[in-house]
Amino acid sequence: MAPHPDLQFRPAVDADWPEIFAADARAFGIDAPRDDLVRANEKARIANDDVVVARDTALPGEPLVGQAMYYRLTMSVPGGRVAFPGLTWVSVAATHRRRGVLRELLTRLRAKWTDEHHPIAALWASEGTIYERFGFGPAMFTQDIRIESRQDLRIPAPKRPQVRYATVADFAELAPDIYDRWADVHPGVMLRDQLWWEDYLLDDRPAARPFTTQDRQYLLHPDGYATYHLDSTSPGLEAARIEEVVAVTDEAHTELWRILASLDLVSTTTGTLAVGDPLRFKLVDLRGVKVVDEYDTLWVAVLDVAGALTARTYASDVDVTLVVDDPIGTAGGSYRFRITGGAATVTEGGDGTDGEVSCDIAALGSLYFGGVDARSLAAASRVRAGSPELLAAFADVWRTSAHPATGIDF
Ligand SMILES: CC(C)(COP(=O)(O)OP(=O)(O)OC[C@H]1O[C@@H](n2cnc3c(N)ncnc32)[C@H](O)[C@@H]1OP(=O)(O)O)[C@@H](O)C(=O)NCCC(=O)NCCS
Repeated sequence: MAPHPDLQFRPAVDADWPEIFAADARAFGIDAPRDDLVRANEKARIANDDVVVARDTALPGEPLVGQAMYYRLTMSVPGGRVAFPGLTWVSVAATHRRRGVLRELLTRLRAKWTDEHHPIAALWASEGTIYERFGFGPAMFTQDIRIESRQDLRIPAPKRPQVRYATVADFAELAPDIYDRWADVHPGVMLRDQLWWEDYLLDDRPAARPFTTQDRQYLLHPDGYATYHLDSTSPGLEAARIEEVVAVTDEAHTELWRILASLDLVSTTTGTLAVGDPLRFKLVDLRGVKVVDEYDTLWVAVLDVAGALTARTYASDVDVTLVVDDPIGTAGGSYRFRITGGAATVTEGGDGTDGEVSCDIAALGSLYFGGVDARSLAAASRVRAGSPELLAAFADVWRTSAHPATGIDF
């Protein structure tokens, strides 16, 4: 549906931001009002030109009725890094929904991303049925976990503790390097600048967190870190809320979880694990960590097939014709997708000697970080290959040496 001509779509100006924040709060049910510092930080991360707002010029005050914007982010991919637009804070006023406002906002942003030659775009979706029609496919998955009593690890503890509690200043100095090294190991990790670090883990003012939580605790290992809060939601019973565990090595992962899984005087410890995290296999009782939810996190849209596929490296070689169906964008077509020594060359046309594989553009986004198996998509008729052997070979190329992890929830 084309939006009503009374609706004006344009980039944001500074004067739009109070309404943008109010619309975010209303659309996403943000409970605590975000204070001036948090708002300033948010605004500093998004340029006005990277925002599209919709105003209804027929209503008194010409209210803001829709908005979509993007962060300029960089993410690890196997063998390198990719800059991409991270679509965020998308909302349409309840009064103006299902009239084509979102579609118009995204059409305008996509045109801008194409002009800027971004190979991929990404987002975190509020619901599972909105974004596939816009070319995005779910690419990574996370679990919410709960640990209800102290859990021992199978690997004996080292003679000397490898982990220490750190001050925020210590953490601010050492964590960024650890995080960057973590991004070298895991695909999908969003790099953070100072503003992201402030927003994520350095700003621990009581105003910036739920009132039941105590000061943030910082754990440091030479190759990893973890942060958590104690939360006194029920009197006398502390819950530990783990925010982030970043481990460059297996040893750092083990030593951080040795502490987090067995905190004294804590009733419940909660946190998240990227799907593929080995924690349960390190516990004496693998049921000691309960998965209470599993959900998609990052969704990826391939905007430029050749640009995206040549930006990462691969686990094995293949030479296929890849036929991509892109009903909404310009990325569709037939490509020769040839991987030699883990590096891809992609040319339009395509007469791959090993056969033909076809998929829709959202499925290609799902495959991109190695978090979704092409065989699962083939079972859902989203990927089609001439033979089981070709499908197996095509599925194998996306495999990554470590599971994808995201790093920034946007
Ligand atoms: C989701 C939201 C942005 C949709 O805005 P909208 O202007 O009503 O969407 P449109 O009218 O442009 O719809 C575009 C298409 O998406 C579909 N769609 C819209 N919202 C949908 C939803 N919640 N679930 C499934 N499909 C949806 C429409 O049916 C339409 O499909 P079609 O064009 O293929 O027929 C709006 O409902 C909203 O602000 N929701 C609350 C905040 C939110 O969830 N934002 C998304 C953050 S990631």
